[in-house]
Amino acid sequence: MSHHLLKGKKGIIFGALDEKSIAWKVAEKAHEEGAVFTLTNTPIALRFGTLTELAKKVNAEIIPADATKVDELETVMNRSMEILGGKVDFVLHSIAMSMNVRKSRTYDDLDYNYYHQTIDISAMSFHKMLQVAKKLDAINNWGSVLALSYIAAQRTLYRYNDMADAKAMLESIARSFGYIYGREKQIRVNTISQSPTITTAGSGVKGIDALLDFTERMSPLGNATAEECANFCIVLFSDLSRKITMQNLFHDGGFSSMGMSLKAMTQYNKCLDGDD
Ligand SMILES: NC(=O)c1ccc[n+]([C@@H]2O[C@H](COP(=O)([O-])OP(=O)(O)OC[C@H]3O[C@@H](n4cnc5c(N)ncnc54)[C@H](O)[C@@H]3O)[C@@H](O)[C@H]2O)c1
Repeated sequence: MSHHLLKGKKGIIFGALDEKSIAWKVAEKAHEEGAVFTLTNTPIALRFGTLTELAKKVNAEIIPADATKVDELETVMNRSMEILGGKVDFVLHSIAMSMNVRKSRTYDDLDYNYYHQTIDISAMSFHKMLQVAKKLDAINNWGSVLALSYIAAQRTLYRYNDMADAKAMLESIARSFGYIYGREKQIRVNTISQSPTITTAGSGVKGIDALLDFTERMSPLGNATAEECANFCIVLFSDLSRKITMQNLFHDGGFSSMGMSLKAMTQYNKCLDGDD
């Protein structure tokens, strides 16, 4: 059901790869809520993913770009303003990748070229995106910029590896840039810290099934789905959240405030039966 929360708003959505992607769900919801926007992803993702299907469905143009390249980000911003007929009101950064995770390099045996790439793709691209947008004056006053994070930025989670460092940096960029963009243009910058979710990036973390089971048992409201995350993104893009900025907002069913739950304790006790 549409609430017309984004009626008249224009945006740019980075990172929809296939229908499991969080950005894909955000695009569907943004369309339902009345927004017009462009979609962007890397040329390789366009070849292997199914973004053209989404573009047809939500009537959006696709602008290929590698988010680590400033000139390509400039193209995304300039083309988006041309296509949409003016500055945008919202931008979603839904981008992450770690070759160290993919290649199972442990945190005490990182490949430093991969590490550099992880930081560039998963965190610094957010700064580049914000800086390019500001220099081109591509976002309307009271606009909203969001990136997706994970609790590994604050707490150590087995196997999340160098992505934890990237997420910590991503959240810091939201605060540092959020101050400047808020002060000068009333533009808000936030991160959403989402539950583990089965997507292409999510499945890159080995053992995600066990992690999902654990966080489900630990969270009083259960894990948040990609669709629920998209709903939250819409609220943060809308005028209903105009004074929220420089925040990392947990969208995780309560997981981040838990230490131990009845459901997790019950499961854990099963393993300890007869072990005293
Ligand atoms: N899935 C989870 O469990 C989970 C939990 C918390 C946060 N997140 C975050 O949500 C965001 C979206 O991930 P997802 O789970 O929807 O997975 P996804 O694999 O669908 O999305 C990741 C996207 O990043 C894009 N990307 C990679 N390198 C890029 C580059 N150089 N330039 C532009 N785009 C590039 C990929 O093409 C892909 O579309 C990521 O930031 C991820 O860390 C995911």
